[in-house]
Amino acid sequence: MRQLIAGNWKMNGLLAEALGLAGDVAAGAEGLSCDLLVCPPATVIEPVVAELAGAPIAVGGQDCHQAASGAHTGDVSAAMLRDAGATWVILGHSERRTNHAETDALVRAKVAAAVAAGLAPIVCVGETEAERLAGQQESVVGAQLAGSLPAGFAGVVAYEPVWAIGTGRTATEADVAAMHGFIRAVLLRHLGAAGRGVRILYGGSVKASNAASLLALPEVGGALVGGASLVAADFLAIARAALP
Ligand code: PGA
Repeated sequence: MRQLIAGNWKMNGLLAEALGLAGDVAAGAEGLSCDLLVCPPATVIEPVVAELAGAPIAVGGQDCHQAASGAHTGDVSAAMLRDAGATWVILGHSERRTNHAETDALVRAKVAAAVAAGLAPIVCVGETEAERLAGQQESVVGAQLAGSLPAGFAGVVAYEPVWAIGTGRTATEADVAAMHGFIRAVLLRHLGAAGRGVRILYGGSVKASNAASLLALPEVGGALVGGASLVAADFLAIARAALP
């Protein structure tokens, strides 16, 4: 399966910046051997989709509400993301889990809502630094997977150690390989043979200089890129490092 290189723009990008970045990514996206995805802020999804028309780049949201519609002031439904042209959505990012107290059960409900609306979900899991220092990374991530993935899950999982996000610190290659192997085993246990088809992205300070070695590790199916996805040349360099 092709590797997926996904850019999480987080809360960055007014219209002019978003269009400029999308256009610059599109200009260098021909002929890549990976799948490319950008996840801009919800307010600019529709213009970014229009800017990327004809380019081999999908567009996703960064979160959605678990309900289809209703009295949820300020929230965005999966169908609204789909309506704006998104085909993917990131769910359960650690910044959502921390800043908005999102639980595994809530993430699971959001995954179901996303799938019902026709969006492909990327479900994020990962341990904090304290949990890793206590040797709890497998139990934490195992519990997140068990709680966040609905039966029959067929999306993408992103392993993002919280202490590596936005810090410039990446997990060691050995740690990434170990965790991705562990996640694959959990997926096979929960989903049966279908668990083999779930791509497992690595995220956390992925940059042009470390992408090739991370993407070459076993069971790494791509990357979820934050900071480096805001610079088109850096994001494209990561995409070029994907395995053919
Ligand atoms: P980072 O963010 O690449 O800036 O560490 C990754 C993420 O949060 O998805």
